[in-house]
Amino acid sequence: MNGGKHATAESITLTIDQNAISCRNGLSVLEAAREHGIDIPTLCWLEGLTLWGGCRLCMVEIEGSPRLFAACATQCTEGMVIHTQSPRLHRYRRTIVEMLLAERNHVCSVCVSNGHCELQAMAQRLGVDHVHLPYRFPRLSVDNSHDFFRLDHNRCILCTRCVRVCAEIEGAHTKDVKGRGIQAAIIHDLDQPWVESQTCTSCGKCVNVCPTGALTHRGTAIGEMIKKHEFLPYLKLMREVHQ
Ligand code: FES
Repeated sequence: MNGGKHATAESITLTIDQNAISCRNGLSVLEAAREHGIDIPTLCWLEGLTLWGGCRLCMVEIEGSPRLFAACATQCTEGMVIHTQSPRLHRYRRTIVEMLLAERNHVCSVCVSNGHCELQAMAQRLGVDHVHLPYRFPRLSVDNSHDFFRLDHNRCILCTRCVRVCAEIEGAHTKDVKGRGIQAAIIHDLDQPWVESQTCTSCGKCVNVCPTGALTHRGTAIGEMIKKHEFLPYLKLMREVHQ
């Protein structure tokens, strides 16, 4: 699995799912796993953005500790033994997805992101074909004020990718999160309609990194909204080079 690489002074060795691997010191468990073709589910993490660690889908087991660790937020250490798949982790991830589906109004059949939604894909991957928790069906608003884009709070999972891309890549910091827990919501500037924002550049990056149908282009019909975020690692690199 380590492709014949040997550990150097800057690299460490560890075991992920019974594969002995070596990786650069300082990598997170998620990065090390992905470098070696081991897939750990994620929703809030996105290459090119800073770490958030909010969705908890990337939880893994590390031998020697009874608790679970977020792979995106845990740095690899020498000799770590990590398990990314187990019945316990599968149950945990399914419950998270069920809680996300029950918390707001994710009605896929009438969503513009139907078929292109990361939450929907995650539910399919984990075999979530029904939700055991009571749906909350909250009455949430849709901000349709912007000329090009729409924010539907009913579909938002509060991953904050939009907030981070707006602040870190576009440099506008138009979006933020207000409230706490189940009452939390994405806002523009000082919680005003999107069209009234003085800072939004209408770049559309927030729309493209949103994993669900929460942020979409206006005028898209059911299933038409396809997101593209391959630009992110490139833009991040260019910014770093420039700085
Ligand atoms: Fe690690 Fe969301 S991807 S907590």
